[in-house]
Amino acid sequence: MRIAVFGAGYVGLVTGACFAELGHDVVVRDVLEDRISTLQDAGMPIFETGLEELLERNRERMLFTLDVREAIEGAEFLFVAVGTPPTYSGDADLSAVWTVIDELPRDLDGDRPIIVMKSTVPVGTGALVRAALDARGLAGVGYVSNPEFLAEGSAIADFQHPDRIVVGAFEESDGDRVASLYAGIDAPVLRTSVPSAEMVKLASNAFLTTRVSFINEIANVCELVGADVSDVARGIGLDHRLGPHFLRAGIGWGGSCFGKDVSALKQLAGNSGYHFQLLAAVIEVNELQKRRPVIAKLERHLGTLRGRRIALLGLAFKPGTDDMRDAPSLVIAARLLAEGAEVSAWDPVADGRIHLHGVETAGSALEALDGVDAAVLVTEWPELRELDWAEAGARMRRRLIVDGRNMLDPVELRALGFEYEGIGRATE
Ligand code: UGA
Repeated sequence: MRIAVFGAGYVGLVTGACFAELGHDVVVRDVLEDRISTLQDAGMPIFETGLEELLERNRERMLFTLDVREAIEGAEFLFVAVGTPPTYSGDADLSAVWTVIDELPRDLDGDRPIIVMKSTVPVGTGALVRAALDARGLAGVGYVSNPEFLAEGSAIADFQHPDRIVVGAFEESDGDRVASLYAGIDAPVLRTSVPSAEMVKLASNAFLTTRVSFINEIANVCELVGADVSDVARGIGLDHRLGPHFLRAGIGWGGSCFGKDVSALKQLAGNSGYHFQLLAAVIEVNELQKRRPVIAKLERHLGTLRGRRIALLGLAFKPGTDDMRDAPSLVIAARLLAEGAEVSAWDPVADGRIHLHGVETAGSALEALDGVDAAVLVTEWPELRELDWAEAGARMRRRLIVDGRNMLDPVELRALGFEYEGIGRATE
């Protein structure tokens, strides 16, 4: 099969490369010249675990282009994997989706190509696109909603071993064709209407954020009553009705998807006249979780933060990616700077210089820790678990660590002379 993929972000590239690995010919089209020329020169415009090797292995079956015509030439499937960032109103910005649809030439409908929507869109988008295609004389082009459930850092594994494949179609035969693309993948295929498929995606992300905000509130209460949220989460997770996933307490959820999707669902409900109270609370809990615990813990130990030097360890919103969109690190850094602290920062791949003005970026974790009054573990990079904490302590002015991800061993660190604070873990 020949597949065109619109959008060379991590979803488009992982989707394209995984389909190439399944033996299909793939053309990836983007409007960003830099991105396409980097890919054409066998470079990597983004960091995603395993993607470079996957692209390398499948280079012969993949093309990268800026040209719509070249992308769609002979393509049976047109995957839309462009960004749908939030607007000021909290709704999703669909301009990139509409650009793809509007750019499709009118003579496209030869062999009934199918537009496959991977981008996360509000419920009802499929119907609007269908109507727009029909109005432009493209009634012979199919439309299928096939949402992605790829988490950054594990996107390739998520594509190859998904929990489910959701296919929502207006025409059953279009759905059959899209489902058949995944023939080599062992996963249940859920066939639904287009709006239901769109809603599965939004509701899944909303539920995941609800779990994390829930456990973060439990963590905050644990601190007040002397319980340990890690043990509590284990105890919850052993109930098969609840399960162990997305119960890691920390400094809040971030990333390019959760914030925008939850807000898009809340707005979607609001636009339809329904006040989604639970999601409003989930969002607010998260805003506070990014702003409050780390700063409060630092202040408890250090008093005023003015003139204090604080190191942020990890900047990406999660390990395995260089993505800093909506990362808790951005809020924590801004809060620290606003309190008058000096901030140093390190991340193995995310480039803090682009996003963090006023923060000194260091070449290594140890360098970031030189002469600091405290360290904040922001992203649970494995490198930080392996760090020589004795050496780290020797470089710090004060051995104070706030572990925003509950990744480190408090007993070990306290034995090294550290004051240790986790999230929802009993303090000494
Ligand atoms: C998320 C979903 O997990 C994917 O299924 C979905 O396809 C994707 O959004 C998307 O909509 O494209 P992603 O944002 O890449 O994936 O990363 P997650 O692993 O879900 O983590 C999101 C945030 O939640 C991170 O900041 C992470 O640190 C935080 N988190 C996650 C917690 O604080 N605690 C947890 O227990 C789990």
